[in-house]
Amino acid sequence: EKGGYDYFMLKEIAEQPKAVADTLLGRIDPSGSLTLDEVRISPSELREIDKVVIVACGTAFHAGLIAKYAIEHWTRIPCEVELASEFRYRDPILDGRSLVIAISQSGETMDTLMALRHAREQGSKVLAICNTNGSTIPRESDAVLYTHAGPEVAVASTKAFLTQLVACYLVALYLGQVRGTKWGDEIQAVIKDLSRISEEVERVLETMEPVRALARTLASKNTVLFLGRHVGYPVALEGALKLKELAYMHAEGFAAGELKHGPIALIEEDVPVVVVVPSPRGRSVLHDKIVSNIQEIRARGARTIVIAEEGDETVVPYADHLIRIPVTPTLLQPLVATVPLQVFACELATARGNEVDQPRNLAKSVTVE
Ligand code: F6R
Repeated sequence: EKGGYDYFMLKEIAEQPKAVADTLLGRIDPSGSLTLDEVRISPSELREIDKVVIVACGTAFHAGLIAKYAIEHWTRIPCEVELASEFRYRDPILDGRSLVIAISQSGETMDTLMALRHAREQGSKVLAICNTNGSTIPRESDAVLYTHAGPEVAVASTKAFLTQLVACYLVALYLGQVRGTKWGDEIQAVIKDLSRISEEVERVLETMEPVRALARTLASKNTVLFLGRHVGYPVALEGALKLKELAYMHAEGFAAGELKHGPIALIEEDVPVVVVVPSPRGRSVLHDKIVSNIQEIRARGARTIVIAEEGDETVVPYADHLIRIPVTPTLLQPLVATVPLQVFACELATARGNEVDQPRNLAKSVTVE
């Protein structure tokens, strides 16, 4: 049932292009607009929304962090993202005009369930983004947008994460479409890009051998740091989480702009630092700032592992290892930038002799608070 792969995780990483395509299927009509009929919250209700709050745990929380950038950019609705386990205990400000989005692969995560119950008690509408048909979280929500990743068996989430991102983009674009924003043309263009993105994910998967080889050389390291900026920041957090849970290594993700506010003190000779570089075309200021971060950490001895768009030559002189990803619109980059980090963590775990599909101390679905 592992389909010829050694681990479910490898199978599930390989299934990502299909999972992404399946999650888009039937949701983009031939004219290029979105039809999310299953989201049983009417367009007029969606026009009334004045705040979006996303609640989730772990990897699903990282998807939510990325969704914030997309939702605020395309819809101009303020969006907060909060760990479900923190949310209800701080007495969050919610009302009937707040849309709460609960993201959960399993649909059974107790922290997320308790957060959504709290939101509904305050009169907010709850939209679930979920991978498991008929599970508790969608059953208790006002509406659900299912991700179509298929069953995810490995404890570490991979294909579910990519499909959660797709669902978040769909919701953001749909909100933008329904409410009509000045980004109308951009929304149209991004919907087109999104409809082709599974091929880009496939292309990334075809170039992963050097990433595996690199991972094997790092098996005896104690720590790996991850840096990103804008949507690359949650990608860095996700890369670090995968490495912790699978390789049992100390790993931390930082916002690149925070480096000089503390984390740069961690940089020493030969410490591996993975840097997710934003597209030089989109927000070029951010790109240039991160290139100078790479220079700074390399000057202090870091071993730089740079994930950068094809054709971005500015990073070449500062990259000890260069991982290329396809050109994508800025906000969609996490769909391709996360894949090498999954492969990296999986290979490091294998090299360290760990049980990839069943990391120690972890359960696939966390049904206690
Ligand atoms: C990480 C991982 C966990 C889950 C988290 C939420 O690889 O799998 O962090 O993402 O426990 O689970 P769901 O999405 O089922 O609510």
